[in-house]
This record gives sequence, structure tokens and C-alpha cells, in this order.
Amino acid sequence: MKIVSVVGARPNFMKVAPFCRALKAYPEDQHILVHTGQHYDVRMSEQFFKDLDIPNPDINLEIGSGSHAEQVGRTMIEFEKVLKKEKPDWVVVLGDVNATCACSITAKKEHIKCAHIEAGLRSRDMDMPEEINRLVTDRLSDLLFTPDRMSNANLKSEGVPDEKVKFVGNIMIDTLERERDKAATIDLNSIIRENLIDELSGREVTITDNSFVAMTMHRPSNVDQRETLVPAVRFFLDEVTKEYPIVWAIHPRAQKMLKEFCLWNEVVANRNMILVKPLGYHSMLRLNMGARLFMTDSGGLQEECCVLGTPCLTMRWNTERPITLMENGGASILVGNAIEKIRDAYHSQINAARRAMRPELWDGHTAERIAETLVGTSTINSEN
Ligand code: UD1
Repeated sequence: MKIVSVVGARPNFMKVAPFCRALKAYPEDQHILVHTGQHYDVRMSEQFFKDLDIPNPDINLEIGSGSHAEQVGRTMIEFEKVLKKEKPDWVVVLGDVNATCACSITAKKEHIKCAHIEAGLRSRDMDMPEEINRLVTDRLSDLLFTPDRMSNANLKSEGVPDEKVKFVGNIMIDTLERERDKAATIDLNSIIRENLIDELSGREVTITDNSFVAMTMHRPSNVDQRETLVPAVRFFLDEVTKEYPIVWAIHPRAQKMLKEFCLWNEVVANRNMILVKPLGYHSMLRLNMGARLFMTDSGGLQEECCVLGTPCLTMRWNTERPITLMENGGASILVGNAIEKIRDAYHSQINAARRAMRPELWDGHTAERIAETLVGTSTINSEN
């Protein structure tokens, strides 16, 4: 059996690592790893391959940055060539990035079976490019691997037949469980020293466990509009940094927009605003383990906060990962981008105790269940 799996952007890498490892248990099956090249910076891509022992991609489509149509279109054109040459039995896509959607469409148009890892998540927010990617991919996939039972219910309500859906747990937590001991040994201040943005290089910064707020923010809905970004950054500068340092791992998009809205100089000048470049996997995990509070708009970090128990303010109005919310036993509160809501939640959580929670089958063995099912499918097909 021949499997082509596809990654494109940063959140895919921690998901594909355990999948590649699990497939090694089936050496008679061939696995080809394709990188679409959507993320291409060392810190957004290559670093993760090294840190997580992901084999080098067999093929890189080098599609790079661009509008959504450009990224999806270019990926489809290049991926079609790969499929015509390789003729795999299965294409495996992960998560909800543009590569996920583009390659599931291309696979089905080439009459190749498609499996989706992390299927069934729904934010019901059609303004999110990721929601469109999820809907298209799940509609087309032949095998849908879900991270939780809520996702099974979503797929059932959309009419996806039960036999296509398999609840396997959260593959990203496989990576967290494998890497957490290594992350725990890293010195917090060496993370800061080694990753400060160029403008802050040489600045003396010291943080200690449980005495800083960690932050990431990159969604267009938070960073692209002045009306949203400016009040949020004012809250961070004028209120949060008066109490605690913020370690902000800044995404290229957020940095660009801060400059555009003339906030960059002030953010850089604030002694309690510790701006670091996009972090490697272990450094981010260590930061999360030591943070008093996490503020983020990332879905993956929301899940990691849940398992580590870090109180998390999710700067979105909705989430495709409701299992991580406090009302469902998790560590996260939805605060959108209204300052009053962010402020209230900040004050209610900044002194809250850590409370780790582990949803069903987030046990570190999801990739093994997926590999077994895929290979099992090939046995069923060959017997028919
Ligand atoms: C993508 C994913 C999003 C994920 C995020 C994590 C989609 C639709 N979105 O969004 O789900 O949470 O990745 O990072 O696939 N850039 C660089 N270097 C890079 C890549 C991008 O500087 O290696 C810059 C480019 O100028 C680009 C911007 O970052 O315009 C945004 O990159 P893009 O790939 O369009 O999407 P993300 O916002 O990263």
C-alpha cells in the first residue's frame, strides 16, 4: 500500500510527526511525505522537522505565501502532478490549513481515497478560512479520524455515514506526551535570550515560573483590523504589563500589522513586553508549562493548555474545540476581542490554579490507532 501524506503550515508539523513514526511499524507500506511549502521560514517550518524528528519531506511543492486562492490553486496544480506520478492508494491530510483543503480536493478529482486526521471540528464561523477548509475536506474524505466525540456528533448531524468516521483521539497530544519531559529540562531564560527579536537583542530580561503571561496572536480577525488590534494592544501595554511581563511569540503577520498601525515602537519600548520570534516546539511547550496565564487565538495552544492545565484566554468568539472550554472541564475561556470581556476574564484567571484535564483518548497513542485503521482498510480492500 502506498500512502501520500501532506503538510503545509506550522500546525501540521506536530501532527504529522507521530503519524510518520506510527507508519514505521508497517515497513511493507510505502509512505511519501509532501510539504506544500506554505510555511517556508526556518522558524515556521524546518525547525519543527529537526525538533520533532520528522523525516525530510520527499517532495516540496514550494508554493509559498499568497492569497488563499493563490495558495490553494498553486497547491492543487503541483499536487496533481505528484498524484499522477505516484498513484498512491491513500492521501492523508491533517488539520485545517490550505494544504488540507487543496490536497483533499485534488485527491478526490484523481479518484484517490482521502483520509482526514482531526476531522469533525466545527467553529460554525464561515469567516474563518480554516472552517471552509474543514467543511470541504470532511465532505470529501473517505475516512475521518476525529479527536473527540463532539466531532463525531458534528459529522453525524451533517449526514456523514458512521462507517467512515473513527474516533481516535488527539494526535497533537501524542507529540506533547512524547516531548514534555525534554521540554521540562529547558531553562526559561535561555529561551528568552536565544529568541528575543532583533530589536531587543542584548536587553537583560529575567522571568521565573508562574510569574509571566504568555501570548500568541495571529488570526486575521484579531490582527488585520485597526479597531481590534489597537485596543487589545493598549490593554496589554497599559494594564497587563503593569502587573506581569508578557512573553509574546510574535507571528510574522502580527508584526507586520503592528508596524502598519504605528504600535510597533511602543510595544518594543515597553520593558515588560518581551517579544520573541516564533518559537520551536519544545520552547513553546516549556513556556506554556511555566506561564501563569496564556492568551492566544491558536486552536492548538488551547488544547495544550487544557492538558497542561494552564488557564487560557482564547481571543476568539467561537471555537472549533469546545472540549477545551472550562464549561466542559477544560482550561480555556472564550473572550473574543472585546476589551471588557478580556479584562474580566484576565482578572478572574490570573490567580487561578492550574487544573490539568485529559479528554478521552488524548492518551499519546492516537497515531498508532490511525495507522492500524489505514493499514486495516487496505486488508479489507484487497480481500474484496
Ligand atoms: C496559517 C494557517 C492557520 C494556522 C497558521 C499558523 C491557513 C488558512 N491558515 O495561517 O490555520 O493557524 O498558519 O501559523 O492555512 N509568512 C512568513 N514566513 C512563513 C510563512 C508565512 O513570513 O514561513 C508570512 C507571510 O508574509 C504571510 C503571513 O506570514 O503573508 C501569513 O502566512 P499564511 O501562510 O498566509 O497564513 P498564516 O496566517 O500563517
